[in-house]
Amino acid sequence: MKKNELKKDNYNIRNILGLQRKNNNEFYTPKEPIIELIKILKIPKNKVIWCPFDTEKSEFVKVLKENGYKVIFSHIDNGKDFYEYEPNEKWDLIISNPPFSQKRLLIERCESFNKPFCLLYGATIFSQSMGNTLNRCQFLFIQRNIKFTTKTDEVKSFQCAWLFNKGFPWIK
Ligand SMILES: C[S@@+](CC[C@H](N)C(=O)[O-])C[C@H]1O[C@@H](n2cnc3c(N)ncnc32)[C@H](O)[C@@H]1O
Repeated sequence: MKKNELKKDNYNIRNILGLQRKNNNEFYTPKEPIIELIKILKIPKNKVIWCPFDTEKSEFVKVLKENGYKVIFSHIDNGKDFYEYEPNEKWDLIISNPPFSQKRLLIERCESFNKPFCLLYGATIFSQSMGNTLNRCQFLFIQRNIKFTTKTDEVKSFQCAWLFNKGFPWIK
């Protein structure tokens, strides 16, 4: 079986098991770490950023737009499942806080586009079974806890890191 066929099968199994949606995926990012990230990365303003786990209410979408970037956003609630959907418009890189379930599969899906990606993950990613996936990534640790809000407006605070694919072009 070819590598791509295997990945497609993984996505299908994932859908059959109903793993695409989990309530513990609903953690909304505050704007501060996104503002800091933009200052660190210095991504050229002509780059188009795809936020695949976001609606117009997302701070990723708002902050990136406020900083002059063209942003494409999509979300499973709008029928745009990241494992099946890719925007028709030209896009250059992915930035977002993805669902925390199925991390390995999600990173493999990001890698399949052969474009830069930058994902916000809780530090628990380092204690999870990720195979060789993390060896293909680099990290930027955030030196304080991030306070996420949930669907019920609770605040959940935990340590996080930005995960980039190796060779992400705008890391100094
Ligand atoms: C951790 S939350 C982060 C939301 C937003 N990116 C933010 O930072 O505020 C991840 C979001 O991805 C959505 N999601 C889950 N599975 C998805 C999929 N397969 N495709 C697109 N969005 C998905 C969830 O419903 C959830 O709203």
